[in-house]
Amino acid sequence: MLSDDYIKKHFFIKLKKTLIFDKEKFISFVSSKQFLPDSYTSFKNKIGLAIGDEYLGEKKEVVLNWPYKDCVLEGGMTKEDQKRDEIFYNETLAPDDINRLLDPKVFTNFKRIDKKGEHELDGFKRDEKGTIKDNLIIKGNNLLALASLKKEFAGKVKLIYIDPPYNPENPKNSFTYNNAFNHSTWLTFMKNRLELARELLRDDGVLQIAIDENEQARLGVLIDEVFRDHEKHCIVVVHNPRGVQGTNFSYTNEYVFFVFRKGLKAIHKIKRDKILEEEFKDHGGESLRTDAKNCFYPVIVKGGKIVGFGAVLPSNQSPKSKNVKRKDGAIEVWPIDAEGIERKWVFARHTVESIRDKLFVKQKNNGEIDIFRIKDEKKPRTVWYGARYDASTHGSKIVNKVIDGKTVSFPKSIYAVYDCIYSVVKDDKEAIILDFFAGSGTTAAATLMLNSEDGGNRKFIQVEQLDEHVDVLKERIRKALNGQSNFIYMELAKWNEEWIEKIKKAKTGKELAKLWGGMKETAFLSYKVDPKTIDANTKDFADLSIVDQKKFLIECLDKNQLYVNLSEIEDKEYGVSKEDMELNKKFYGSK
Ligand SMILES: C[S@@+](CC[C@H](N)C(=O)[O-])C[C@H]1O[C@@H](n2cnc3c(N)ncnc32)[C@H](O)[C@@H]1O
Repeated sequence: MLSDDYIKKHFFIKLKKTLIFDKEKFISFVSSKQFLPDSYTSFKNKIGLAIGDEYLGEKKEVVLNWPYKDCVLEGGMTKEDQKRDEIFYNETLAPDDINRLLDPKVFTNFKRIDKKGEHELDGFKRDEKGTIKDNLIIKGNNLLALASLKKEFAGKVKLIYIDPPYNPENPKNSFTYNNAFNHSTWLTFMKNRLELARELLRDDGVLQIAIDENEQARLGVLIDEVFRDHEKHCIVVVHNPRGVQGTNFSYTNEYVFFVFRKGLKAIHKIKRDKILEEEFKDHGGESLRTDAKNCFYPVIVKGGKIVGFGAVLPSNQSPKSKNVKRKDGAIEVWPIDAEGIERKWVFARHTVESIRDKLFVKQKNNGEIDIFRIKDEKKPRTVWYGARYDASTHGSKIVNKVIDGKTVSFPKSIYAVYDCIYSVVKDDKEAIILDFFAGSGTTAAATLMLNSEDGGNRKFIQVEQLDEHVDVLKERIRKALNGQSNFIYMELAKWNEEWIEKIKKAKTGKELAKLWGGMKETAFLSYKVDPKTIDANTKDFADLSIVDQKKFLIECLDKNQLYVNLSEIEDKEYGVSKEDMELNKKFYGSK
């Protein structure tokens, strides 16, 4: 390089007698040069926002920031109408708390449920690689459930479909579940969960997230950050063709993000709109007989079946009618429409044999016979429109019917979820499909539907925390099972919850005072509680009514510490039963 004066002048700086190579300048030159070999511009062949010469997109430091981004939000609640004033666990200040929070948890209340009802669980089925191959419904907070599932399912989940709380701005919104998040808390809530979800996915796994206009854009940026080496597509689903009245627009659609590793061929063709058949006659743009040379010939039908194909008719001849009866009893069917216009078949004479098994004969109401074909599957379009995606007809109403008037907030159309699932796992009959915002369990129902259609053995994992939703979910899925299938139901074992139950059961002030003694020792108290101050005011406490004493003690408990860590399963304090200890061992004891 030094031998060329031009290069020497441009890329070397002289410092006293030493020449210093300007590496940055050279790299930037070479990288533009690659794209623009004959140009003298110093800019790259790319449009983008930049600071100086560097594109923002290439700077790893450019990210979406928001308050509390570095925190963990447990996002737990037990009742739909219970809005929780949650604290954030700060990663920089309280890493121990976070480690504890995200440690695997103890499960309890295991059952195997089949169509007939509930049975005791004796163990988990595993495949030859040691992976649990049971359907699972887990009751509990999804952050902790995901952290617990990680131990068994890291890198094993083929598809994650989630439909998280949408976080609408409207204060009168009808969303009543865990939805009191503003944008920052919502983003933290999602980031925490997506980071865990990423670890569960297989290398060829796909993540699908349903979302509406309130968080769609921010979620897109969050996905870019959490799933850096992934591609992201966002489709539109018209789930409410009647429209939800906004001030200015009537909203009819929501979105689904599809996320998977760059370069994967992850999305398969689907039966678009579930229209399974179509006329073999071409009604499209160029659909006249004169538009193609070899597409006007008779399909020969005998006894209701296609028995062959006739020769292409010279252009100066025409058949007498659409269905021409031959002497041997066979019928020639011609591509002529109801108005008598001569059209063409979709396939030319010399290629039609190759799709013969897709063609069939159908008699129309007017007695005429026509040729139909089984519709090909096609690449999913980016706008999903049609009656099957209507969330009211194929979501709430279905759940309502199955569960006798009960439902959950905003179930999806089962076909919207079915098509999402189908596009990813249609060829993978052993796939594990996870949904950790299960609601009424549409994802599990769609998985069972697909299995029953193609004899697949795909398994679902569903996580839901609300009592009333879990009831609906369990019952809906039990009814959707066939004679052979079943699922395992299990709950995250609660800890502070046990204290709440003890407090509720207590009858006297003396009992409550004793419970306080125990709580100080082993319960997780709210960060607002200072036990010393309470002990210094025992008289005030004793003066309260029993009801108020109970209320006060419950308020002292930290609602973020409701669960038992696996590492403490043997601790007598938690009173985990022998049977549960065994089943936890079986669940966590892979390979
Ligand atoms: C929009 S709904 C999902 C509806 C579902 N796709 C269906 O078709 O029925 C979201 C669900 O996530 C649950 N959820 C919200 N936050 C949760 C959390 N932190 N842990 C577990 N479940 C949660 C809610 O209780 C609600 O049932």
